[in-house]
Amino acid sequence: MTSSRLAIAACGLLFLPAAADELPESSRRTAIAANSLTPPPPNPTNRVADEPAARQLGQALFFDPNLSSNGQISCATCHDPSKAFTDERTIAKGLKAGVVNTPTLLGAAHQRWLFHDGRADTLWSQALTPLESDLEMGSTRTDVARYIASNASLNRAYVAIFGPLPDMGDEKRFPAGAKPDTPQWETMTSKDQHDVTEVFVNIGKAIEAYERQLVPGESAFDKWASSLAAGERDDTLMSDAALRGFTLFTNDAGCTQCHFGPMISDLEFHDLSLPSSTQTETPLPGRGSGYPTLRNSEFRADGPWSDAPKSTLARRAASARIGTEHWGAVRTPSLRNVAATAPYMHSGQFETLSDVLAFYNTLEGQVRRHHHAEAVLVPLNLTDQQLSDLEAFLRTLTGTLPPKTLSIPPVGYSIPLR
Ligand code: HEC
Ligand code: HEC
Repeated sequence: MTSSRLAIAACGLLFLPAAADELPESSRRTAIAANSLTPPPPNPTNRVADEPAARQLGQALFFDPNLSSNGQISCATCHDPSKAFTDERTIAKGLKAGVVNTPTLLGAAHQRWLFHDGRADTLWSQALTPLESDLEMGSTRTDVARYIASNASLNRAYVAIFGPLPDMGDEKRFPAGAKPDTPQWETMTSKDQHDVTEVFVNIGKAIEAYERQLVPGESAFDKWASSLAAGERDDTLMSDAALRGFTLFTNDAGCTQCHFGPMISDLEFHDLSLPSSTQTETPLPGRGSGYPTLRNSEFRADGPWSDAPKSTLARRAASARIGTEHWGAVRTPSLRNVAATAPYMHSGQFETLSDVLAFYNTLEGQVRRHHHAEAVLVPLNLTDQQLSDLEAFLRTLTGTLPPKTLSIPPVGYSIPLR
């Protein structure tokens, strides 16, 4: 008991509900389940996922702007380690303006589906998309492979992990700007197309090895939940407001219908019928288009480039259920580190946590775009005090960041500036 509550008890007001003291069993169980964040599950579809040499190479690539067509944009431009691996923008901006908000990479390796619409099922396949996207880095798999071959330190690291590179210096066989659906690509033999794609995929696998180390660190909430799990509940680890907020989160506010487990997310898709953000006009089809895109991708976990296409993990996409209610459904974000990753929602609809909570409280601005849309949310009608308690709880989910050594390019690589 905290001293203030002791004082109240001493005054004989024992009948007053001391909200934080009476932790409902459902909240206790939710806390303990949320506290079980282990290292990311193994990814057998990437044979180098946990190899130190691949982690290093992946880290060098993550910070290398030469992987973009104008030599200015790296993964870290939008996933900036000093901004909790986001860009703090409403909508991402690469070579051109993007269409959605940049998610943090902290905990990305714990996700089942990547992207807001789940159109990738592994980190390695995800990484290939921004490289070839005209909105983001605007490169091509052939240019990426040519660059790796031409850079002595990257070439050496690549060959040590994956074996020899194709003869990328041969410009006739490997023309600049070649990727599927370009005229240059059509001039290449299918063997050369295959070999370039293989280099590209390996690049993705090295980047995943780096990203798998970007795990959410322990938060105040985790410390408190650990004390609960150990049977030595220590409420001094959380403020009274945060304790009340957590009880609300797990009970009356209904948040744990979707936000639970180690990532404080069900890792699946829901349609909150959010208002569009000012910058994007077209509503996101979400899972409704993400799933078909994944099914058609050559880079699926059970596809030809996977190192374990028959593994349980790889079979996920084939067994996923998808229905009409998934049109507009977006993956439930992790709430770990949420206080550090504003703005919020898939198109940055809300600037602050209190804006998010105001939406959940009234559902003002909700746009039901089709009659299959989920109808789980109801206006909460919470008081200002309760809303600020909820926010106090969300703020306890901020954990320690990955070590500094993972937030800068690794030593031993030379990254030329253009
Ligand atoms: C122009 C900004 C930009 C650049 C450059 C960029 N990203 Fe992203 N990243 C985004 C945005 C925006 C999304 C969400 C896109 C979507 O869901 O459609 C995203 C999504 C992701 C995700 C999925 C996270 C999740 O929780 O689902 C990962 C992982 C990721 N990026 C890694 C990378 C890597 C690796 C690179 C470099 C090869 C990179 N990004 C380059 C903006 C960027
Ligand atoms: C029906 C499932 C569901 C319920 C219930 C729910 N959420 Fe969410 N939450 C989501 C989804 C899905 C998103 C992402 C929506 C989007 O981007 O379009 C989200 C986004 C958020 C975000 C923004 C995170 C970010 O990084 O952008 C916060 C904060 C949040 N929810 C907190 C809460 C709180 C607090 C409650 C209870 C009051 C709650 N949620 C109830 C599914 C849910």
